[in-house]
Amino acid sequence: RRTQDRRVRPQQPPVAEHWTKFVNEPDTDWSLPHNAQWIESVLGKWKDRCDTLDTGSGETRESTDPSRPAVVVCRYSEATLADVEAAVETATAAQADWRGTSVRHRHDLLRSVAQILRERRGDLIATMVADGGKTVLEADPEVSEAIDFCEFYPLTVDHWHRQSGIKLEPRGNVAVVTPWNFPLAIPCGGIAAALAAGNCVLLKPASETVLVAWHLCQAFWDAGVPKDVLQFLPCAGRVAEAGLVKNPQIETVILTGGTSTAKRMLSVRSDLHLLAETGGKNATIVTSMADRDLAVKHVVQSAFGHSGQKCSATSLLLLENDVFEDKTFREMLADAVSSIRVGSSWDLSTKMGPLIKPPQAELNQGLKSLDDDESWLVIPEHIVDNPNLYRPGVKWNIRPGSFTHLTELFGPVLGVMRFSRLEEAIEIVRSTGYGLTSGLESLDDREIALWRDSVHAGNLYINRPTTGAIVLRQPFGGVGLSAYGPGVKAGGPHYVLPLMRVTDGKPAE
Ligand code: SER
Repeated sequence: RRTQDRRVRPQQPPVAEHWTKFVNEPDTDWSLPHNAQWIESVLGKWKDRCDTLDTGSGETRESTDPSRPAVVVCRYSEATLADVEAAVETATAAQADWRGTSVRHRHDLLRSVAQILRERRGDLIATMVADGGKTVLEADPEVSEAIDFCEFYPLTVDHWHRQSGIKLEPRGNVAVVTPWNFPLAIPCGGIAAALAAGNCVLLKPASETVLVAWHLCQAFWDAGVPKDVLQFLPCAGRVAEAGLVKNPQIETVILTGGTSTAKRMLSVRSDLHLLAETGGKNATIVTSMADRDLAVKHVVQSAFGHSGQKCSATSLLLLENDVFEDKTFREMLADAVSSIRVGSSWDLSTKMGPLIKPPQAELNQGLKSLDDDESWLVIPEHIVDNPNLYRPGVKWNIRPGSFTHLTELFGPVLGVMRFSRLEEAIEIVRSTGYGLTSGLESLDDREIALWRDSVHAGNLYINRPTTGAIVLRQPFGGVGLSAYGPGVKAGGPHYVLPLMRVTDGKPAE
């Protein structure tokens, strides 16, 4: 006999997506003269400033200005292995209180961080100019993105916490290891996501941009995030490996960096819970059905923004035969690239600032040498006086399988290839092994559909640049060699999920 359970289970109301209320932070409108005057005056205050940071008991290091390599912009003391190990102990002790805080409390704190970042926009831009060599035009959207991360991630944590039938718990200690090319937004995103989810954070910033990361952390502490919940550890890579990656008290690492760094982390710790966004060898395909003027504009912006030092940058330009042979297109591209204004990032009229450091290894080879059949459409000249300053270059007629086709150069060199059929171009893109961003310039719906369905990349951009993803609108992350871990995208609603442990809400047996 079947016993009937007549109790009616209460229907769970559908959970509204909390982020529908989310609005992206606007960038500064530089067409307004008073905004240009404002940033000039802020930069003036920072130009001769040198901060001294007491950040560890190790050796004192200097960070220099890429626009003026002889100028030291900050001195900081490195964290030693003993400092890092002590910091992890401190974080573990802090977890009891922090994980017990409400989602609401953490949301309020992160909203206060966002407000402080808003108020300090000018100073933060100046730290990125001074320490990261970013132009004002490139640094400004980074502040907006950092604010977006602080506002957005808590909404998503709140959303997932309200789902029925599951219980979410923080994972514990999260190490956030970040690069110099987005020295504000990337660390801010990792910290905000991990904190919103209830974890303690140990930040290992890039050694090139410690000053930026320090002022970022200052905003979190000033907003009321306890100092033992967010700790700042500028240390050598080998110290981070020994003290953070191999440390059993740290289960999760958020890495934005090289593919080789992600591989190395997994080789020294196979059970590491790693969320990594790594390299890219991104291509934009221009078919004969493209608006060629617009294609040039988008490609130049994607290839040479921040001197090509973005994992999202277009570094291969694939031209369909008749575009490749179109003399006007070639001249337009060469003119657009040669007329980019290169110089010091302190100068507001500069469009392309310096490299973070003199070109090394692959980039050096990419800037100096040609393979058989290749020629320079635009030669990437070094500008005397500053070892970091290069005019952008365009390499013509790159062959499939060559060095420039397959190697991530991370600098101001664009390689141009030709193709006969779109399927062939898609294969050229796929064969790099990377899969971060990919661009298509075409006004033909059938080409767009074919490309969209077969190209292997995390972020697909049609008739627009491949850089500058915006939180929630274009969650950012790759496939293939461009990502390791659960494959969630930064700035998207699922990013916080792997930073929490999902249970069914029942106590463990
Ligand atoms: N999110 C950046 C971009 O889209 C790269 O990290 O350019």
